[in-house]
Amino acid sequence: MDTDRLLRDLTAFLRIPSVSTLPAHDADCRAAAEWVAQALRRLGCGDVQFLGSDTHPVVWGVGPEVPGAPTLLLYGHYDVQPPDPLDEWTTAPFEPTVRGGRLFARGAADDKGQVFCLLEAVAACGRPPVNFRFLIEGQEESGSRVLFELLRREPERTRADVVLVADMAYVAPGWPAVYTALRGLCYADITVRTAKSDLHSGEFGGAAPNAHEELLRLLGRLKTPDGKIRIPGFYLAVRRPTRTELATWRSLPFKEREFLKHRVQAKALTGLKAHSVLERLWALPTFEIHGVLGGFTGDGAKTVIPAAATAKVSLRLVPDQKLKTVERQLAAAVRRLAPRYVQASVRFLHGADPATVAVTHPAFKLLDQAFREVVGRGTVPARAGGSIPVVPALGKGGAPVILTGIGLPDDRLHAPDEKLDLKQLWDGIGVFRRFYELLAHLKGRRRGTT
Ligand code: BES
Ligand code: MN
Ligand code: MN
Repeated sequence: MDTDRLLRDLTAFLRIPSVSTLPAHDADCRAAAEWVAQALRRLGCGDVQFLGSDTHPVVWGVGPEVPGAPTLLLYGHYDVQPPDPLDEWTTAPFEPTVRGGRLFARGAADDKGQVFCLLEAVAACGRPPVNFRFLIEGQEESGSRVLFELLRREPERTRADVVLVADMAYVAPGWPAVYTALRGLCYADITVRTAKSDLHSGEFGGAAPNAHEELLRLLGRLKTPDGKIRIPGFYLAVRRPTRTELATWRSLPFKEREFLKHRVQAKALTGLKAHSVLERLWALPTFEIHGVLGGFTGDGAKTVIPAAATAKVSLRLVPDQKLKTVERQLAAAVRRLAPRYVQASVRFLHGADPATVAVTHPAFKLLDQAFREVVGRGTVPARAGGSIPVVPALGKGGAPVILTGIGLPDDRLHAPDEKLDLKQLWDGIGVFRRFYELLAHLKGRRRGTT
């Protein structure tokens, strides 16, 4: 393997600041799509298309026809999360740097490095063993609107024998995983307004309502200090993990103390103490406040009573919660908690239903075998706390959706100093290459899919 060449190519991809949530980076998202398109052409895709958007297109590719072989759809995303806070990066987020066998850059693990891994594994096969289809989107980090619309209009894009998604991590070093569930997401702005405009806090303080105070009280009431979310009906659809799942999770090399000390790096863990940490991360819903806007936050002091305040919040959802139901429940809870003199409103930004995957299809055995051969251990079934909004839509055509990845739990996704261990990447190319080759002999597949 020419690792210097691979590193050069991946570095060029990672240099593009394709932050999909910020309109200032529209041209960069387009440039990242071009990079993907060029890579697909090099893999022999005759038919590479930009679909659904000029700035954040879904890149679609069809590999060389392999008559009689199964069809494998590869999914990934070329967009990334914003890199801030910039001053907490050891080296700049879009200047990929190797230190101690790790490649540091925004997108190194999530998901450009993994897209690169899937594509290089195709190249490593030489002659393609299966019929490859590629669906690489540019809005995963901001709700996947373009891809959702594309799949609604053209559901046949997901027609395949198997769908492979590499956008996750091993559960621990040396422990590859296959995921049986992803959490969903309900992202919203909650705004309260208490007066027509801001007021002098000396003239009016003591008698006028304060928007920040009202917002913070409202937010504080949405969750108890011990972690219970107080939205009526919210837990009704939450399905308990099975005994087998709980037993498997207990056997994983996961130590709550280590998790606190080295990954969270806080003084204590929070949340529902009756449940293990893995249950809280994988099988229970959350309510988080991401930021609060409004009022005076500049340098110095300004004595003002703010008339409006907005919080950006999200709820992670677990099987069998439904996004639409939760949206209604949150809006109703906010209405109920706001005093009569406060105007409260909820605006939903994006969201996703939770996803579940039965890992029973024969293709899962082949991935397990590929990992076993290349890294010495097969895949352990786990769940993921994060979300990939289009996963349920990718499975609509009836193909099994394999959720896996080559990251490690300490990759610092969405945070400063995101990285990918190069060993994971080199191993990953070997694993996926072997998986593609094994898949060529997949038995008992559905007919008429190539
Ligand atoms: N790759 C992650 C999802 C993920 C993270 C899965 C960790 C498993 C473990 C993905 O890129 C992501 O960050 N998704 C967003 C989706 C959202 C913005 C709609 C997320 O989970 O916040
Ligand atoms: Mn991702
Ligand atoms: Mn992400």
